Formats: sequence, C-alpha cells, structure tokens
Amino acid sequence: MSEHSIQGKWALILGASSGFGGATAKALARKGMNIFGVHLDMKQTMPRVQAVIDDIEAAGGKAVFFNMNASNEHKRQRAIERMRAELAASGEPYLWLLMHSLAFGTLKPFIAAQPEEAIAPADMNMTLDVMAHSLVYWTQDLVRAGLLGRGSRIWSMTSEGSHRVVPGYGAVSAAKASLESHTRQLAMELGPQGILVNCIQAGVTDTPALRQIPGHEDIIAASIRRNPGKRMTLPEDVAHTIAALADPAVGWISGSVIFVDGAEDVTG
Ligand SMILES: NC(=O)c1ccc[n+]([C@@H]2O[C@H](COP(=O)([O-])OP(=O)(O)OC[C@H]3O[C@@H](n4cnc5c(N)ncnc54)[C@H](O)[C@@H]3O)[C@@H](O)[C@H]2O)c1
Repeated sequence: MSEHSIQGKWALILGASSGFGGATAKALARKGMNIFGVHLDMKQTMPRVQAVIDDIEAAGGKAVFFNMNASNEHKRQRAIERMRAELAASGEPYLWLLMHSLAFGTLKPFIAAQPEEAIAPADMNMTLDVMAHSLVYWTQDLVRAGLLGRGSRIWSMTSEGSHRVVPGYGAVSAAKASLESHTRQLAMELGPQGILVNCIQAGVTDTPALRQIPGHEDIIAASIRRNPGKRMTLPEDVAHTIAALADPAVGWISGSVIFVDGAEDVTG
C-alpha cells in the first residue's frame, strides 16, 4: 500500500444519510474508505439510508450506521465505543476523517405577530447545539478516546448565511457563524497533534434541508441566476473536494473556510 493511500481507512460522517454527507460517504467509499455514519431518520426516509449503505458496500467499503440524535451525549459515547471496537478489529489506529454535516434547526423568525410564532430559547439552543456545538463535543470525545490522530482531518459545513441574512434563517445563521469560529479554535488547539480542521462553504444546493427554508424556490432561482457557472452546487461538488483532500499528501490546510460554490459567494 502506498503511503499516500487511504484504502481501508475509516471516516465518520455526521449526517451521512442525505445531501452532502450522503454524497461524501459514497465518494470516500469509492476511494477505498470504510464509513461510520450518524443520521436521524424515521421509517419514511429509511430507504435513502439503505441506498447510501448499499452504495458504500457496492464500492467494497464497510458501512456501520447509527440512527440517533447526534447531540445526545449518552448515545454519542455508545457509538464511539462501537467505533473503537470496529477500528481495532480492522487494524486501523484511528479515524482518518470526521465530517460534520448536520442540518437540524428552527426556521422561526426572531420577530412575529404572535409570540408562539417567534423563536424561543429552546429553539435557539437546540439549533446551536446540533448545528454548531456538537462539532466540539464529538471532537472532544473522539480525541479523548484516541480516535483522532496525526493526519486526521475534520470538515464542517457552513453557508453564505454565516455572514448574510435570509428570512427565517436567524438561528441557523448564528449556528454557522459559531461553527466557523469552532472550526478555527479546533484548528489551533489540535494543530500540535497534526489534526487538520477546516470548513467548507457550499453554494446553494438542492437537498431536503434547503427545501425546508421558507422561500427556497426564490433562493434556488437567485443562485442559478447569479452563479457564474449558471447552476446550483451539487452534493457531489463537495464530496469530490473532500475525497480529493483526503489524500495524506495534503497535510497543511487548517483553520480555513474553503468555498465550494463555483464563485457564487463573490457575486453576492
Ligand atoms: N443545502 C444547502 O444549500 C447548504 C449550503 C451550505 C451548507 N449547508 C450545510 O450542510 C450541512 C448538511 O446539509 P444538507 O443540505 O446536506 O442537509 P440534508 O437534510 O440533506 O442532510 C442532513 C443530514 O443530517 C442528519 N441529521 C439531522 N439532524 C440530525 C441529528 N440531530 N442527529 C443526527 N443526524 C441528524 C440527517 O439524517 C441527514 O443525514 C448542514 O450543516 C447545512 O446547513 C447546506
């Protein structure tokens, strides 16, 4: 095996059943990686989970998936124990890649005619907890368990909303700004251990999460109009970027926000 091979290494993808996480799981499996996937799906969306698992296995990879709330501390500990055993059994010392791609937040406005229509503290806290702070808690627990090491790379997913306003996106905007800040902080604190931490800012992408945003049709139309490539970003655009940068020879990018959007942001 070449020292630049990722064959047989493991990735953990938080949000592996759909959108960017699902596409990245498949792209990494095609590069020879095995995938731990965390997702939150009900019966109705389980077929898409199975489709991702089938693709990973068809590429020759192992798939170990956990249907759980990624911000539940107890479940996180149990999943990490299972991952530790699986890594030991496959002779891999630690995870090569962690991707945080969770979409789970309130889309309530801050100000509304009726108090119950406006965001409440529980909504705000849940959104920030899942979409931003869980990156820190997963990383802490994985580092404590010895499951991240020299060369491991961590990816978080941000959007233009981290620095622009979109109706209904107030809590998610705050989560994105926090997520970028957490990414920088982790890059600094994990740098001495040789762990790389970066964030991808994807362009507007047609996923189930986007379709929850009020006025998403206008957001899609505006993105196609202003994007110099005249199309939306695809989950595969992000997946191929992460798969290319999984190469062990790429080892000096950390603390960055990388735009994978066909220059959409700079046209805004
Ligand atoms: N779609 C876009 O236009 C866009 C653009 C830039 C950034 N992003 C960001 O990319 C990330 C992924 O979004 P997506 O568009 O791929 O969404 P998606 O809805 O396609 O996928 C979300 C994934 O997160 C999982 N999930 C949600 N809540 C969870 C929880 N509490 N515990 C465990 N799993 C949970 C789902 O099961 C699913 O696998 C999000 O952080 C989103 O804000 C999206």
